[in-house]
Amino acid sequence: MRKKIAAANWKMNLSWKEGNELINQLLDRHPAINNGHQVILAVPFPYLTLAAKLIAGRSDFALAAQNCYHLPAGAYTGEVSASMLASIGIKYCVVGHSERREYQQETPAQLADKLQLCFNHAITPIFCCGEPLPIRENGDPSRYVTDQLIASLSSLAPEQIAQLIIAYEPIWAIGTGKTASSAQAQEMHLAIRNYLRDTYGSSIAAEIPILYGGSVKSSNATEIFANPDVDGGLVGGASLIADEFSAIIKALP
Ligand code: 13P
Repeated sequence: MRKKIAAANWKMNLSWKEGNELINQLLDRHPAINNGHQVILAVPFPYLTLAAKLIAGRSDFALAAQNCYHLPAGAYTGEVSASMLASIGIKYCVVGHSERREYQQETPAQLADKLQLCFNHAITPIFCCGEPLPIRENGDPSRYVTDQLIASLSSLAPEQIAQLIIAYEPIWAIGTGKTASSAQAQEMHLAIRNYLRDTYGSSIAAEIPILYGGSVKSSNATEIFANPDVDGGLVGGASLIADEFSAIIKALP
């Protein structure tokens, strides 16, 4: 059975004082996460080692970086490598978030390199995909998302694919308050799983958690997470509020 995951993406939000308080509140409210569920907190780089101290001894909580660089090391001022993340014990990294694809012009080939570097350092990538509004309205969203997967996953070995977490985040639903309907989410997650099954076989496809992201809130999480191919969420805005994210953790089936 694949893991059910509640992942928080803080993006570029919160002071460390606020973040510290938020993590402590979550730990207090969830003394033990049930059913093998996993909570992953993608906090800004400067908070990773600080947050690691707070969650020490809690295997049900883990940290993710929000990004890593697509090259292994060198004269790249301001960048952070996968090996640096591994050296401080980070086990997860978000790769290919739509905000980075858009604002940093990250290319599918760079994302493929990031994925490979993560795997080289035993970091599980959370690979993001999702279509923009014009594709949702006038195009073929499952074709678009499948093409994103082909463009960045094709160079990976099947054993690596089997370790991946995928996050489907329709761009039109991110930070807009518009959520994909439960049926739209399931339809896209099934299309992703079908692609994985056709390409890598049914046992690998069955093992890969596919998270939904895009205006997940306490009020819609239960319905979205109840879909057979939705394995939890990657949550932005609502993950910054203890009550909200706590309810989202509880909504994992
Ligand atoms: P929101 O939950 O704020 O829509 O953000 C989703 C997201 O981008 C998570 O990575």
